Amino acid sequence: MVELGVNIDHVATVRQARKTYEPDPVWAAALAELGGADGITIHLREDRRHILDRDLQILKQTVCVKLNLEMACDEEVTGIACEVLPDQATLVPERREEITTEGGLEVVGQKDRVRRTVQRLREAGVFVSLFLDPDLKQIEAAAELGVSAVELHTGQYALARPGKDQADELECLKKAGIAVRSAGMALHAGHGLTYRNVVPVARIEGMHELNIGHSIIARAIMVGLERAVREMKQLVGGHA
Ligand code: PXP
Repeated sequence: MVELGVNIDHVATVRQARKTYEPDPVWAAALAELGGADGITIHLREDRRHILDRDLQILKQTVCVKLNLEMACDEEVTGIACEVLPDQATLVPERREEITTEGGLEVVGQKDRVRRTVQRLREAGVFVSLFLDPDLKQIEAAAELGVSAVELHTGQYALARPGKDQADELECLKKAGIAVRSAGMALHAGHGLTYRNVVPVARIEGMHELNIGHSIIARAIMVGLERAVREMKQLVGGHA
């Protein structure tokens, strides 16, 4: 069964647009769980533009499924993660100007920095995943660091025109998936996945976890979060 991690950052983005108390991502997490989410994903950004420290603290106490914290290789956030102890940390690149995470983490070029963060998290008992482009060199570097999982960046696949371009990107994800699994790491994927393009990615051999935010929250505005999550869960192959 492919697990569905629901990224609820956008709920916090709406709250922060008014710097008020609603909508609360903590409520959203509970509704996502009722809809069959296997995990709740949040990104505690350096600039705290959506998820706040308070959200992480409360979600740690209230989420009954896997809590996945996306984070940069940053001293302060690593310290917070080692204190709060989410079930999983997914290391992502982070730039202040970006609208969302734009590419995979550069591991080859900053191996020592990534290694330090991975070591601190692992020593604290956190399962570590790296968010990577489907690039064999990056995957090899991740394996050398001894991380437990790789989340493949599906953004290029999501942006590709349906037809040959999309099929080529899917092929690239499949090859990267084989590399991840043959190095003994769990295979995750995410970014840009929607109700229309998710199925071929969910069917990649050995796929373990998909992390999806924008499309689910967009649909939730129309049909409610619990239903939006249930519908995505059915597509990725669950029985919610
Ligand atoms: N996975 C990672 C590592 C991400 O950074 C994001 C975006 O926050 C997602 C998955 C979800 O992407 P989307 O919102 O496009 O579904």
